[in-house]
Amino acid sequence: MPRDPELSDYLTRFAGQDEVLARVERETRELPNAGMISRADQAALLTILTRTLDAKVAVEVGTFTGYGAICIARGLAPGGHLTCFEVSEELAAIAQRNLDAAGLTDRVTIMLGPADENLAR
Ligand SMILES: C[S@@+](CC[C@H](N)C(=O)[O-])C[C@H]1O[C@@H](n2cnc3c(N)ncnc32)[C@H](O)[C@@H]1O
Repeated sequence: MPRDPELSDYLTRFAGQDEVLARVERETRELPNAGMISRADQAALLTILTRTLDAKVAVEVGTFTGYGAICIARGLAPGGHLTCFEVSEELAAIAQRNLDAAGLTDRVTIMLGPADENLAR
């Protein structure tokens, strides 16, 4: 998050944050290490980049509560798939719930465990 709350509000307002993302951000604020969440404008850029690349395959290393994953998955080409790597079982479960709520269950797989081991596979 930017340190300046006004700047943060401004960036979020123009990032096109919908109800699902707003709820994920709100609930994430209650967690330890809440500052790890992707900023709304950064995550909006992920959607634009994924869409611009017409990406069919994407990988996210470190998913936290799923904010960035939702934004990447929304930009995927039809039939595309995102694989997420998350080391924390608790966070992976939260991210899965958030992805389900976003209607992205079929487009995203969360692999639990250290990313380097799973990436090697
Ligand atoms: C900065 S947060 C990711 C933010 C997230 N991409 C988002 O959009 O909100 C980093 C995440 O990486 C996870 N992590 C740390 N080390 C990891 C590892 N070796 N393999 C997989 N995940 C890891 C942490 O548990 C944490 O959830």
